[in-house]
Amino acid sequence: MADTDVSPVPDFTRTLRLDGKAVIVFGAGQGIGRQAAHAVKQAGADVICVDLHHDAATRVAAEVGGAAIACDVTQREAVEDCFAQAECLMPGRLRGIIDIVGEARLTTLDAATDALWQSQFDIVTKHAFLVTQVGSALLRGNGGGAISFVGSLSGRRMLTKQSIYGPAKAALHHLVQCAAFELAGQGIRVNAVAPGFVHTPRMDRMVSEAKWREIESAIPVGKAAASYEIAQVLLFLTSDMASYVTGQIIGMDGGLATGTPLPVLF
Ligand SMILES: NC(=O)c1ccc[n+]([C@@H]2O[C@H](COP(=O)([O-])OP(=O)(O)OC[C@H]3O[C@@H](n4cnc5c(N)ncnc54)[C@H](O)[C@@H]3O)[C@@H](O)[C@H]2O)c1
Repeated sequence: MADTDVSPVPDFTRTLRLDGKAVIVFGAGQGIGRQAAHAVKQAGADVICVDLHHDAATRVAAEVGGAAIACDVTQREAVEDCFAQAECLMPGRLRGIIDIVGEARLTTLDAATDALWQSQFDIVTKHAFLVTQVGSALLRGNGGGAISFVGSLSGRRMLTKQSIYGPAKAALHHLVQCAAFELAGQGIRVNAVAPGFVHTPRMDRMVSEAKWREIESAIPVGKAAASYEIAQVLLFLTSDMASYVTGQIIGMDGGLATGTPLPVLF
């Protein structure tokens, strides 16, 4: 018979708390980013809301009682300036980075152009490289932290008309693994969630009701995700509840990655 287990038992619910910490959210202006800003705020963090659009960053910052910064996260100088501002606003306290920026531009290979390839890799992958490189230096100085991105099912399996977006998300997933390996010894965890289909303001503008019904009928759980459901897992990844989780791409696709056949969606 085994010896009695006397290993300490933590207060599990407290490990989700972020009291005293600051978290910066890139793409906080709507959808998943806005929900993520609320999630980390409710867990006790002070929040810095960053968005390309100043008014959107300011609106969400007001909702969560945080700070707002306007920044094009695809540009190195802007990212460097953004983290410098974050350090001035909340000195020594930045411990979490959530970057949800990304956008699918659908195309067939035939219609694809060099310019589209470049812009997709900028908006899907390049900013993650910049945020990881510049942000990890700040986290390191503050005693470590967590960096979390939003990948995609499209980076894990073929989806129609995603022959540039898919490879760009696959590259983002791979960057997460490389960064997680390099930064693990510095107390920095790097992960991503990989959604399938999410009701975000942008997607709801783009996709008709009829198309949503077609998409949702192909998803094993029978519905697309709500933005807050993605934010829940971003909160988990940012918190000490995920203290042993790094280098992971967490599928959030309602079962689609199981290999479920999909209709031609777009
Ligand atoms: N919605 C879906 O069905 C779905 C599915 C899989 C993956 N994703 C991924 O989820 C993430 C969020 O998608 P979404 O539909 O919520 O996006 P969204 O367009 O609703 O939100 C993105 C936010 O980022 C901001 N932003 C855009 N470019 C920026 C830049 N250069 N610098 C700073 N901020 C910028 C936008 O202003 C916006 O507020 C993306 O990475 C997307 O690829 C979405």
